[in-house]
Amino acid sequence: MADNNNCGCWTFLKRGVCNSYSTTLSANTIPRNSLVYDAATETRCLNASNRELYPPNEARLSSDNLDPPTSTKSKSPRQLLQFSFQELKSATGNFRPDSILGEGGFGYVFKGWIEENGTAPAKPGSGITVAVKSLKLDGLQGHREWVVEVAFLGQLHHPNLVKLIGYCIEEDHRLLVYEFMTRGSLENHLFRRTIPLPWSNRIKITLGAAKGLAFLHGGPEPVIYRDFKTSNILLDSEYNAKLSDFGLAKAGPQGDKTHVSTRVVGTYGYAAPEYVMTGHLTSKSDVYSFGVVLLEILTGRRSMDKKRPSGEQNLVTWARPYLADKRKLYQLVDPRLELNYSLKGVLKVSQLAYNCLHRDPKARPTMDEVVKVLTPLQDLNDLAILSHHSRLSQQGRRKKKPEGSKSTKDSSLNIGKHRKDEIKLQLCK
Ligand SMILES: Nc1ncnc2c1ncn2[C@@H]1O[C@H](COP(=O)(O)OP(=O)(O)OP(=O)(O)O)[C@@H](O)[C@H]1O
Ligand SMILES: [Mg+2]
Repeated sequence: MADNNNCGCWTFLKRGVCNSYSTTLSANTIPRNSLVYDAATETRCLNASNRELYPPNEARLSSDNLDPPTSTKSKSPRQLLQFSFQELKSATGNFRPDSILGEGGFGYVFKGWIEENGTAPAKPGSGITVAVKSLKLDGLQGHREWVVEVAFLGQLHHPNLVKLIGYCIEEDHRLLVYEFMTRGSLENHLFRRTIPLPWSNRIKITLGAAKGLAFLHGGPEPVIYRDFKTSNILLDSEYNAKLSDFGLAKAGPQGDKTHVSTRVVGTYGYAAPEYVMTGHLTSKSDVYSFGVVLLEILTGRRSMDKKRPSGEQNLVTWARPYLADKRKLYQLVDPRLELNYSLKGVLKVSQLAYNCLHRDPKARPTMDEVVKVLTPLQDLNDLAILSHHSRLSQQGRRKKKPEGSKSTKDSSLNIGKHRKDEIKLQLCK
């Protein structure tokens, strides 16, 4: 297993050299077929006849497996725009360094502005705000992921998938234009900000991301996402979660097949163990990765963190014993939340994470089941802090202490001790 780049992506496939970049992808060959989510009826309708992008042996590297599915007669309800390189250069102020939103394995992502109803660049602050992802020109893998991304996101439309507005393919330039997600990635909010992400937002994001995965898995021709992680969950102004980065997505098994065999790609700390061992990919591999992200959301710890003591670097390995023991699981909660979390919510999320991380993929829940478990957690108001205060006042009444001898405010500073109280409280229920 070799770490192939600095963002933690890895692959067992020896990367090939691109002999001829496929430039056959143009506005005419971008898929016009669409898997569309109808929010009003909560149904999916599949117009696509074929969304398999590669021959079964994906390891074969040649320009002929770079083409997306060819167009068919059916019309897409949303067509992708084809931008010129010059248009995107102007839209991002010549790819100005101060408009960089982030950098991933694919390359830099820039903030830009385009006119409504077209590809023309707009003045900063006017028209539509977009995120422009620019591919680093270093080989086949990036181009291949670019094609897969256009092919999948051009067809898949759902409120919890980021919207691909268009693309640019011109000489060696490969760019993607997405709707701009105001709050950036979940990774930023969980690990890079000083203000902790509130529990209610964590649940909202978890549910949104789960719905995105459930949509991908639940269609007549399921799609396996393969790269579920906090940096690929983007957030709009209201903390609605949308999955981005479909470069590693793969059509799921067809007919009576139980899995697809692929080269192993993904990100350290997120990939399901059986997939890493065998290359056999199922939708349950995504469920495992979802379990890892659930743990990150619960604990505020990264799935892999080399800065921690050796026994704590791998989050799943560290957390498993806590998840399995109801008396210990409240010790997992992100300490930055203090007591501002739902007691029942933590219990349910922990149980769910435990099930998603089951070593036997068949024992893991489906994403539809995950959505069912998470949905009611949005309405829970049993905050640990409230229960803590009511417990304190009960104790105060019992002991009949004189007023002001021990204020609630002072007590709440001893979070460690009171969290233990809450754990006992929960177990008594
Ligand atoms: N549509 C978008 N709107 C706003 N910010 C975005 C958008 N897409 C990406 N970003 C920002 O750019 C960063 C880099 O994204 P990118 O997907 O290229 O890399 P990554 O997810 O961090 O890593 P990887 O290459 O492993 O997927 C994201 O973390 C996010 O902060
Ligand atoms: Mg990403």
